[in-house]
This record gives sequence, C-alpha cells and structure tokens, in this order.
Amino acid sequence: MDKKVTVIGAGNVGATAAQRLAEKELCDVVLVDVIEGVPQGKALDLAQAAPIEKHDAHLLGANAYDATAGSQIVIITAGIPRKPGMSRDDLLSTNAGIVKKVTREIASRSPQAILIIVSNPLDAMCHVAYEATGFPKQRVIGMAGVLDSARFRAFIAMELNVSVENTHAFVLGGHGDTMVPLPRYSSVAGIPITELMTAERIAALVQRTRNGGAEIVSLLKTGSAFYAPASAAVEMAESILKDKKKVLPCAAYLEGEYGIRELFIGVPVKLGAKGVEKVIEIKLAPEEQAALQKSAAAVQELKSVLATLKY
Ligand code: NAI
Ligand code: 2OP
Repeated sequence: MDKKVTVIGAGNVGATAAQRLAEKELCDVVLVDVIEGVPQGKALDLAQAAPIEKHDAHLLGANAYDATAGSQIVIITAGIPRKPGMSRDDLLSTNAGIVKKVTREIASRSPQAILIIVSNPLDAMCHVAYEATGFPKQRVIGMAGVLDSARFRAFIAMELNVSVENTHAFVLGGHGDTMVPLPRYSSVAGIPITELMTAERIAALVQRTRNGGAEIVSLLKTGSAFYAPASAAVEMAESILKDKKKVLPCAAYLEGEYGIRELFIGVPVKLGAKGVEKVIEIKLAPEEQAALQKSAAAVQELKSVLATLKY
C-alpha cells in the first residue's frame, strides 16, 4: 500500500489497532515491541488472516526501529496499563520513560510523522512526546476524547434504545476523573439529549462515562480496555490518512484557546493530512467552562509532577 503506519507496543491496544488498520486496508503496518517474537508473531498471524479478511495490507513485526522509517503516522501504545485499584496517573513515571525513548527513536527515522499518543496518563504522555521529539504541535495528538465520547454514545444508545449511528457526543478535558462530557452538545439524530432524558438519567450516564475505563478494568482484572481504544485511535488515523478533516475530540496543545495555555487537553479539532488543522472553539456555558478549567488544572498538576521526575 502507499501509506505506512507504525504501531509501537504490540500489546492489547497496539495489536488490535494493527488489526483494524489492516482490515480497513488503510495502510501497511509495522508493529514494534520490546518483547522478542511478540510483534513478529502477531504480525504474521494477522498476515495469515488477510486472505480470509480480504485485504492486501502488509504487516511486519520488529523489535528494532529501522523498518519504521518513513511512517506517515505512528501510534504510541507502549507502556504499562493500569490494574484494579490503580489510577491512570499511577503510570506516570514508568510510561514517561518508555514514551520518551520510543518517540525519540521514531523522530530520527520518521521526522515528518504524525504521532497519535495512546499511552497513559494520556495528556501527560503527549507532553513527553512533544518535548522528546520537538515536533510541531499539529503533529502530536492524544487519543482520549474519541474513546470517551464513544463510551458516552454507547450509553446514550443503550438508554434510549436507538441506533448508535444516530448518536453524537462530545467529551472534552483531560483523560481522567475530571473529563468533561457535554450533554448540551450530545444528541440523537440532531436532537440534544437534554430534550430526551431527565437530568437524573443524564447525570448517571455522565458518571458512567467518567468511570468507563475503571468499569472495564474492574471486570478484566488483568488489564484495561482495548477494543474501543484501538477503534478510537484508528478513527483518528483514518481521518489523517484520507485527509477527511473530521472534527473529533482529541488532546491538542493549546496556546490560549479556551483560555488554556501550554497544555495538552481534549478539545474538538479538525484532523486532516497535516494533523491538527484547527482547534474548534465551541461556546461553553459558564459551568462547562469551569469544568474544563478544573480538568486543565488536574492536567497541569500532572505536568508539574512530570517536570520533577527523572525519566
Ligand atoms: P499492554 O500491556 O497490553 O501492551 C503494552 C505493550 O507495550 C506491551 O506489549 C509491552 O511489551 C510494550 N512495551 C513496553 N515498553 C516498551 C518499549 N520501550 N518499546 C516498545 N514496546 C514497549 O497494554 P495495553 O492495554 O495495550 O495499553 C497500552 C497503554 O495504553 C497503557 O498505558 C494504557 O493505559 C493506555 N491506554 C490508553 C487509553 C486512552 O484512552 N488513551 C485507552 C486504553 C489504554
Ligand atoms: C481507558 O479509558 C485505560 O485509559 C484507558 O480505558
């Protein structure tokens, strides 16, 4: 294929993202992991599924980086996931070291790549990648809002017994307990959910969305969600590869938008061939803006802790 996407981390999210990229025939895929044999084995297994799934994407697994050279997009999933009782923030120090190392390897071989960061704690890991690579802000993008919004959409569809295809939702802010689901901007067939549900039911769905990752961790017990996270990262990659210019909630580096400076946080952006082509500033009610500021303060706190760490 004429496009190449590298996925770093051949674990649950990374391998599932590789599968979806290939099965949608979006690009060739290079899968990289530190564990010898795992990326090679998963890439070969996926390649053997290709005749049945009917795609011609090439898949390659590697432990080194030379095969990643010239990637248009690199999805970073390397790191450790959380276990029951852990917050995403507990992963900070370990994953910062991993993300710094792998993004430097990528920058030297694919200097024009667009990075989609998945590793947690998400917003802080975007800062690590941004600083480690020196890439322009348009080419470092965090995946969280698409996932959190998809969770909100799934819960809205379950609640109202309607097709998920009719739903739309926006979840902004940091990828953590302070995330900001926006019921006013969430709808079914264009009808705001505020006209379709009671305030109590909306509050319950908002809380379930905020707790969406933890609910799955508590069920799986040995790791965190990966099917929906992989789908979310691939939706972002597809918008970039096809220059679709979808408006999606992503962690982007803000320099004054929404009154927030020098911080990666989830906001609606236009995603196209150049990466973040525009940050869309939607009008927020005072309580929504206050919730976004609170979330920004939580991300800022993590960024400050990061500055004190040696990684
Ligand atoms: P996993 O444990 O299944 O896979 C992680 C992989 O990274 C492992 O195979 C491991 O060997 C690899 N790895 C570790 N250090 C590496 C290095 N230096 N170079 C290359 N590979 C390396 O974990 P999973 O479930 O795939 O999650 C990956 C990360 O994504 C975690 O940090 C998790 O918290 C995060 N995540 C973020 C989401 C989001 O919404 N932003 C959603 C889901 C997961
Ligand atoms: C999630 O939200 C763990 O961040 C990951 O599922």
